[in-house]
Amino acid sequence: MYQLCPSILSADFNRLGEQIRILEKEGIQWLHIDVMDGDFVPSISFGMPVIKSIRKESRMFFDVHLMVTEPERYIQDFVDCGADSITVHAEACEDLERTIERIRDAGVKVGLSIKPATPVNDISHMLEDVDFVLVMTVQPGFGGQKYIEDCTEKIQELKELIDREGLDVDIQVDGGINEDTLETVMKAGANLFVAGSWVFEGDIAANVRHIQNRIEEIGDTIE
Ligand code: DX5
Ligand code: ZN
Repeated sequence: MYQLCPSILSADFNRLGEQIRILEKEGIQWLHIDVMDGDFVPSISFGMPVIKSIRKESRMFFDVHLMVTEPERYIQDFVDCGADSITVHAEACEDLERTIERIRDAGVKVGLSIKPATPVNDISHMLEDVDFVLVMTVQPGFGGQKYIEDCTEKIQELKELIDREGLDVDIQVDGGINEDTLETVMKAGANLFVAGSWVFEGDIAANVRHIQNRIEEIGDTIE
């Protein structure tokens, strides 16, 4: 199943609730929430209070992407404020296995992310313990960057590995996903598409409808 996962990092935080309602009205089920700590990545975005607030009104699946050093410290906090999945970076965890286990034990879906420079090999032993892998297609930290072409091969490599081992693991991509790169990542094997600027720049409802159509059109060409 293909999912567009709008990243609220690119939303207008002065009108966040209104913009989330627009997404929900257009049938979006999966909301990507980029938490940045200013340490693992240079920028700082937002944390639990924002998620707690939007959780009150939204029924979407909250996909919390922790771009945070030593994220194990915060798993329960993000579960408590309404996360439905927690994604941690392999590069940010002192003990990745224990962190993944803690997320699983907390009763939410498990995402594992790798930065562009991190090889698939570094996480291949963890695939059966996660629900999806987030392949960063930009350097984490900012919206509106250009897709890194080398990541296409990583998506393909990961897809082949998952298929070879007969695993039920989704592939999410995040960063620079737009008109020019969607087909590439879909054909490479990704099925969860994080998009910030493509969704939030301009008419959000029209953007979502257009992207959903493109996903369907391209999906029909992939067996
Ligand atoms: C970058 C964030 C991405 C970003 C995507 O670290 O994780 O989710 O918001 O933004 P676009 O789609 O504009 O590249
Ligand atoms: Zn993200």
